Amino acid sequence: MSELGDLYHENFRKLRPYFPVLALCGVATMVFVLFAFLVMPRALDPRVLYFPPADPLDAKPVAGKPIPPMDVAAMLAGSPELVAAGKSEYAIQCQSCHGPEGKGNGPAGLALNPRPRNFTVPDGWKTGYKITDIYHTLSEGLGAVMPAFDVLSPEKRFALAHYVQSLGGFNHGPEDATAVAFLNQNYHLSEGGREPNRVSVPFMMAYLAEREQPAGAIPLPPESDGSDEARLLRRAVADPARVARTLERAAGWQVSSASLAEIALAGSPANGVSAAVGTLSRTQWEQLRTSLLEHLSRKNQP
Ligand code: HEC
Repeated sequence: MSELGDLYHENFRKLRPYFPVLALCGVATMVFVLFAFLVMPRALDPRVLYFPPADPLDAKPVAGKPIPPMDVAAMLAGSPELVAAGKSEYAIQCQSCHGPEGKGNGPAGLALNPRPRNFTVPDGWKTGYKITDIYHTLSEGLGAVMPAFDVLSPEKRFALAHYVQSLGGFNHGPEDATAVAFLNQNYHLSEGGREPNRVSVPFMMAYLAEREQPAGAIPLPPESDGSDEARLLRRAVADPARVARTLERAAGWQVSSASLAEIALAGSPANGVSAAVGTLSRTQWEQLRTSLLEHLSRKNQP
C-alpha cells in the first residue's frame, strides 16, 4: 500500500500547479458550448431577430385614432426637419433590411428574395421613387417581403419618403399632379379622418363564433298532438334549427302572413322551411305565423 500511496502523492504534488489552468479550461469549454449551441443559433435566427416573438394576431383590438388634416403641399415639399425625423425612423424600422446607406444590404436583407431596394440608384424601382410612390409603398407594402408600414402616421411616412430620397444622389424629378391628387384623396390627407379600427384575428373569430350561435330551434309538437296547429307546424318546418335562424335574421315576417310567406318561400328549402308550404292557404299561413310568434314570445320570456 505504501508504495502505491507514495506514487499517487508524488504525482498529485506534481500536477497541483496546473489545477487552476485545468479548471479554467473546463469553464472555457462550458462557455463555448453554451454560446456555440444555445445562444448564437438563437441570436442569428432571423425569426428571433426580425420578428417580434409575441403572436401579432393576439394583439388587442384598438380603436383607430383620428388623423388631423395636414398640409399636403408642405409635406411634399419636405424640410430639413422632416428629413431628420425620417432618418431616426429609418434607423429603427428600415435599416435592418435596406442597410445604413440605403443600398439594400442590411443584415436582414441579405437573405431576402427579392433583395430590398437599393435607394442610391434610379434602377429597379417597382412602384417608383417619387414621394407619392414611396408613400404608397409604405402604406401598402410591396410583394411578399416589403412590409406595409401603415401603422406609422402619415407624417412619419412622408418623413421616411424624404429620407429615402435623400439617400439617393440622383434627380428624383417633380411630383406628378395626378398622383398627388390621388394620394390626397385615397389617404384622406388634407381633409383628415380616422384610422380604421384594428381587431385581432382571434378576437374576430371569437366574435363571429358567438354571432353564429344557433338561435335555438323551433320546438315541434310531438306526433301525438293531432291538432290542426301542431300538424301545420310539423308540415311546414323541415329543419327546426335552420328555421329559427332564418326567422331571427329575416326582418318583418312578424308583420303579416304575406311577408312570412314571402320570406319562407324565397329561401325554401335551404332556409329549413319545407317545400310543402307552397300549398298552404292564406288562413294556414296566418295560423303558422301565430304559432311562430307564440314560440318567439315564449323564448324571449326570462
Ligand atoms: C423585412 C425587410 C424590409 C424592411 C424592414 C423594410 N423593407 Fe423596404 N423593401 C424590402 C424588400 C425585399 C423590397 C423589394 C420588394 C420587391 O422588389 O418586390 C423593398 C422595397 C422597398 C421600396 C421600393 C419600392 C419600389 O418602388 O420598388 C421602398 C421605397 C422601401 N422598401 C422602403 C422601405 C422603408 C422606408 C422601410 C422602413 C419604414 C422599409 N422599406 C423596410 C424589404 C424591407
